[in-house]
Amino acid sequence: MTSTLTVAVLGPGGIGGLLAALLSRSGHRVICLAREATAHTLSGSGLQVRSRQFGDFGAAVEADTELREPVDACLIAVKHTTLDAALTRVPPAVLGDALVVPLLNGVEHPASLRARYRPDRVAPGVIRVESTRLGPGATGPVVIEHGSGFVETDLTADTAPRPRVEALADALSATGATARVVEDETTALWAKMAFLAPFALLTTRYGVPLGEVRTRHREELESLVAETTAVSRACGAPADPAQALARYDAFPPAAKSSMQRDAEAGRPLELDAVGGALLRAADRHGVPVPVAARLVEELRAAGH
Ligand SMILES: NC(=O)c1ccc[n+]([C@@H]2O[C@H](COP(=O)([O-])OP(=O)(O)OC[C@H]3O[C@@H](n4cnc5c(N)ncnc54)[C@H](OP(=O)(O)O)[C@@H]3O)[C@@H](O)[C@H]2O)c1
Repeated sequence: MTSTLTVAVLGPGGIGGLLAALLSRSGHRVICLAREATAHTLSGSGLQVRSRQFGDFGAAVEADTELREPVDACLIAVKHTTLDAALTRVPPAVLGDALVVPLLNGVEHPASLRARYRPDRVAPGVIRVESTRLGPGATGPVVIEHGSGFVETDLTADTAPRPRVEALADALSATGATARVVEDETTALWAKMAFLAPFALLTTRYGVPLGEVRTRHREELESLVAETTAVSRACGAPADPAQALARYDAFPPAAKSSMQRDAEAGRPLELDAVGGALLRAADRHGVPVPVAARLVEELRAAGH
């Protein structure tokens, strides 16, 4: 049986809002940490989820602009572009010995979180889902649209106490989501990164969905997958280019990356956390990545 947890969620957006609503519906105490306007709306009207997997439901959550009391875990669910500003809402002294569970894409944020909070409480995870926050409007709840029909979270416990990470995974699993504790943080983070980077960089650079990347930019896709898997391996995470390509080929042709959606909507991109981090890791390990370097440069030159 799962015990009742108190979980803070920094950034109740697409993923944070979905997990906050699921945990609250399951009976856990959830405190969403957000900017003033969002915190105000959440306190009054809560979260409303529209989900292919879980149906439509409302969930009441507490909300604040800053963490003011100890919690069992703090999920970090902002984008990289706002991570530093958002973390000021989670003072290390208040957080105490709570687990810090970042779910951002990318590979560099765990080091900065370990520099800021207790390194032996940082338990990075990766999440596979498609979930978008709509609104909030002037009135009414914050609406989360969960479109993927699944939500899968891999948590890691390389430095954090495994039983506590397992308790969080159990709590997430009991909501109906899929959650597990996996063995190796580097492998988990790079598995996501190695899939995401080619998909995000190519769809965003050319402004086309994955199907067109597969056909019109096949050679570049294959080169980029080879570069990314080489960097992943150099960082200590196994990666297989043939398997990666097979995964892209199995995706629906209309699939778009979230970086591409951000570009279309004029929002800041997580380009540095994905492309920038890939180039920095390649440089550290002396792995040549000419295609990745050109794509990142072209995206930066385009003002991203
Ligand atoms: N969405 C997905 O399907 C998905 C899937 C896998 C991985 N990811 C990764 O998960 C991470 C989060 O993505 P997301 O799509 O959930 O982002 P999102 O929908 O944009 O949500 C980010 C949240 O952060 C909040 N925020 C921004 N600045 C803040 C600040 N200074 N203080 C407190 N809160 C702040 C935003 O709320 P306000 O604007 O109201 O402040 C928003 O609720 C990213 O790294 C993304 O790559 C997302």
